[in-house]
Amino acid sequence: MTTGFFDVHSHLGVGIDDGAKTVDGAVAMAEALRRAGFVEAVVTSHIKQGYWENTRESITRAVETVRVASPIPLHVGAEHTFDGIYVASLESKSLVTLGEKTRVHLLEFQPTNIPHDLNAVLFRIRLAGYRPLFAHPERYADFARDLEAVERLVLNGALLQLDVASLAGGYGAAQESRAWRILDRGLYHVAASDLHSAEGIDAVMAGIKRLQKSVGDTTANALLAVNPRRIVHGEEIA
Ligand SMILES: [Fe+2]
Repeated sequence: MTTGFFDVHSHLGVGIDDGAKTVDGAVAMAEALRRAGFVEAVVTSHIKQGYWENTRESITRAVETVRVASPIPLHVGAEHTFDGIYVASLESKSLVTLGEKTRVHLLEFQPTNIPHDLNAVLFRIRLAGYRPLFAHPERYADFARDLEAVERLVLNGALLQLDVASLAGGYGAAQESRAWRILDRGLYHVAASDLHSAEGIDAVMAGIKRLQKSVGDTTANALLAVNPRRIVHGEEIA
């Protein structure tokens, strides 16, 4: 059985980060996602101090400009970077989650600035009533070096998101091999596009094919359709 995929990481917000530059470009991205099998998407524009200091309001406004012409429903979310804005938003309990129904939010790290004790960070996040979905852990050499530590994070409630194009070499050989290692260990909860432009869809589609071939349709469907949908709906994932 094939359920439509649900993308929880995409940059369709027009003109507010390094993703879509025009409304037409954003609509082309939504069409590309649809071609790849995604029937719904969360727009996760960057919130990054000194670069793209977006708010729920700025992202909502940017999504509104695309919604009317988008072939798939779009939700408002964000990709938080772990920085001063993040810590302040965590303390004031104003993180931008993946849609309105969940406490799960997308969180990335600056590759050169990964917190030393991620479990302590995770504990603070959980204490504030939130749950992080770590974006593309395969991007970070330090993070993927010790998979037992990653496993502990997952046991403590961290969720992990694969940039699916990583599996097709879309981000280089080192990132691809880290992605396979994390995948082989069964540590990913979701796979997403992290689409920044319509041109990026070929690598996403190639990654989806490799994922399906490697783990089979049931697990691929859990990563691309079932789990992301549950997260956005505020439900527990298996
Ligand atoms: Fe992203």
